[in-house]
Order: sequence, then structure tokens, then C-alpha cells
Amino acid sequence: MVEDGRRILSNVVSTQAALHALYGGVVPEVAARHHLENICPVIEKAMADAQMTFPELDAVAVTQGPGLVGALLVGVQVAKGIAFVHGKPLVPVHHIAGHLEAPALALGADVPVPALALVVSGGHTSLFEMAARGEYRLLGRTRDDAAGEAFDKVAKLLGLGYPGGPVIDRLSEGADDHAHEFTIARIKDGRPDFSFSGVKTAVLYHVRREGIVPVAGPAAATDEVRDLVASFQRAVVTALLRKLKEAAQARRPRSLILTGGVAANRQLRRDAARLAEELGLPLFVPPIALSTDNAAMIGAAGQVAFDQGRRAGWDLDADPHLPLG
Ligand code: KG4
Ligand code: ZN
Repeated sequence: MVEDGRRILSNVVSTQAALHALYGGVVPEVAARHHLENICPVIEKAMADAQMTFPELDAVAVTQGPGLVGALLVGVQVAKGIAFVHGKPLVPVHHIAGHLEAPALALGADVPVPALALVVSGGHTSLFEMAARGEYRLLGRTRDDAAGEAFDKVAKLLGLGYPGGPVIDRLSEGADDHAHEFTIARIKDGRPDFSFSGVKTAVLYHVRREGIVPVAGPAAATDEVRDLVASFQRAVVTALLRKLKEAAQARRPRSLILTGGVAANRQLRRDAARLAEELGLPLFVPPIALSTDNAAMIGAAGQVAFDQGRRAGWDLDADPHLPLG
């Protein structure tokens, strides 16, 4: 629950990470079923935490897409039900707009625009320009895997469990990140696009060549595995920030944004802060609770969309491939 788009009244997250860990990743059908089971208790808790009742709401914001269609459908139908019963406007929100508004929510104010934003999550790796409040323009994106997906797949193949990002982050601290040189493909057609499937395959070939056997969870990680994931992490972080730097030099923004689940990564945060200093720009990174998926960021983006007059009808449908910018 968010007030004026910039103040959090409640932010309830029901995570399915433990469940997904059982399967080594997200199984769409399982995720949708759990959404259905959890959505009403989560909404009740959000209302209770904020000490609000439905009639007091100004509007109901809901993620229309992109994402897994089953999970999106549950949210859209429930939001429609609440808005319809209580006569409230229904505001459709793009999931990435939520990530892009998270820094402003954390700050309690809009960030200086134009802003250049690196959005890195399990499903997305994109560069956006926020030209003005609520105006998002896609500059570049991944051609294949998202950065977070690469973290998850590398962790899985080494037996480090799911989600892989936080584990690789932790194991990399103090390890030798120059033990191996993994290069990340550079897109040659001039677009600031990313590609992360190659580095994942490079790690896989390395593991096979060296005969590294998967370990039984992070606690069993050897120095060899720690150096390997640290080198992988360095390659990914370097590729992400190289694109951000090139785009900043070309577009001359007034601020930088780092957001999405992978923005929780400590090396990425440290190196991004160094880059921002080098470029002489302020960097806005939401705290981890607002970097990874959460409802408050959708409320923040919902307020921006509401102010722009965006409203959905009762025919609003989930769109797993909804574009932005
Ligand atoms: O934004 P998010 O919570 O959900 C999506 O919209 O995808 O991002 C989840 C992704 C996962 O791939 C997870 O491994 C990654 O963010 N992640 C991290 C870290 N914490 C989460 N990746 C690297 N380092 C971290 N500390
Ligand atoms: Zn996300």
C-alpha cells in the first residue's frame, strides 16, 4: 500500500523461493496455484498493516505484465474484483515500470531526469531512459538470457541451489574473481543490447573440462567453485556496467538508476557506485527489499500511471509479453 506514490504504508511479500528451490527453478503452474492460495491473505495483511479499509482507497493498481501468465491472471482478476465492488479506478502497471519507480519510492521523491536506468532481474536485463516522470524509453535489452537467469543457471549447474544470485554473491566475497577470464559477447550492430547465454555455456564447458562435480549446496562450496562463481560474477558485472557507461557517455543523463533483483548484488552495487562517481552523476539504487519483486513498487508506478490518467476497463487482460517504451 502506497500513499502519493512515494510513501509506503505496507509492503507484504509472499515469497515462493523455498518452493521453487525444490524444483530448482520456477514451475509456472506451481507458481500460479500458490498465487491463488496466497493472494487473499496477502491483501488482508497489506490492508491491516496500513490500517486502511477498501473504501478509503483512491485506486487499485495491478501488474498487467510481462511475466508468467497464470500468476498475472490471478492478480488481474482479484484487482478487478476489488475495484469493481468498491467502485475504484483500476490502473494497469507494467512490471518494469515498478522496478523503475522503486528508487523514487525509496527516496520519497522523483529522481532527476533524464535518468538512465539499468534494470536487472531474473526475467529482464534492459537499459531504459526515463526522459520525464513516467516516460520510459527502451534503449537496449538482452537478446537471450537475463542476467539473473544466468546467475540462477550457473548456480544450478554447480549444485548451489535456487535462487542462485544471492548465493553466488555471498560465495564470491573474498574469492579470486580473476581465476578465470569469461568473456561476454559484444553485440556488434550498434544497439546497446546484452547477451548472457554465452557466459553460462562457457561456465558449463569449463565445469565439464575440469571435471568439477556439483556440490551439495552452498555450504559445501570448494575454493575452486568460489573462484569460478566470482570470475563469472565479475564478467557479468563488467558487461552490465560497460553498457551503462557507454550509454551515459552518449546520452548525458542527470542521474543513474540501478534496479531489479540483481541490483541486490554487492559487487554490482560497489562497481556502479564507482562508475557513477567517475561520471559525476548521482546513482539511485533501491534498498534490497525494494530491488527484488515487491508490491510497493507497483503502487509507486501505479500512482505515476494514475496521474497520467491511465485507467483500465473491466476487460483488462493479463499480457505476458506487454512491451514498455
Ligand atoms: O526482480 P526479481 O526479484 O524478480 C524478477 O522480476 O525476475 O529478480 C530475481 C533475480 C533472480 O534471478 C536472483 O537470482 C537475482 O535476482 N538476485 C541476485 C541477487 N539477489 C537476487 N543476483 C545477483 N546477486 C544478488 N545478490
Ligand atoms: Zn521483477
